[in-house]
Amino acid sequence: MNTTIIAPSVLAADFANLQRDIEMVNNSQADWFHIDVMDGLFVPNISYGMPVIEAIKKHATKPLDVHLMIEKPERYIETFAKIGADIITVHHEATVHLHRTLKQIKDAGCKAGVVLNLSTPVSVLEDILPDCYMVLLMSINPGFGGQKFEEMTYAKVKKLRKMIDEQGLDTLIEIDGGVNHVTGPKLIEAGADVLVAGSYVFNAENPTETIAHMKTFKR
Ligand code: DX5
Ligand code: ZN
Repeated sequence: MNTTIIAPSVLAADFANLQRDIEMVNNSQADWFHIDVMDGLFVPNISYGMPVIEAIKKHATKPLDVHLMIEKPERYIETFAKIGADIITVHHEATVHLHRTLKQIKDAGCKAGVVLNLSTPVSVLEDILPDCYMVLLMSINPGFGGQKFEEMTYAKVKKLRKMIDEQGLDTLIEIDGGVNHVTGPKLIEAGADVLVAGSYVFNAENPTETIAHMKTFKR
């Protein structure tokens, strides 16, 4: 692995100044935009949907990493692809036929990833790993930004890293929730490749410098 991939979570941006915050990410060392879609059913919160993502896409110069926290995401894959998603991740817990959903994402022209909740063991991915461009491990219970990082995540990252290496794959490991200057370096050390950060970036006094600092986290 070369450098850590940084994906600021737009959920923590200032929606009244969205274009300004998008430009900040464009002009920073960040790699992707992390886009959180919530349906108020799979998670106890509703975030934003298609019109906002289309608006982001209009200004973003970096890939959109779309994290679907919605029940039966297979209903909307083509729509998200059409409005500009580059990577689409779906929760293992939200789709019954994960293999079919991953294929659907690829057929729509996007990179396909799976997300696991805290309580879902990485072992459920053993057979499907070769079909995953990325695995996103939640380090909080999804639904809200600014929550406390759950320490159990480090062991899950190590286990998943081992599984990926044993199968000789280059599947990326992404972590989402409570990532900051303390948890970030430890996650990279444990084997993560991609760090999502919402409040740590957007609530920082200098978000651009915070992103640059995150790019220095290395194994
Ligand atoms: C929460 C979302 C996260 C959220 C992370 O369910 O998936 O992407 O924005 O926020 P922080 O980085 O503040 O924990
Ligand atoms: Zn997310």
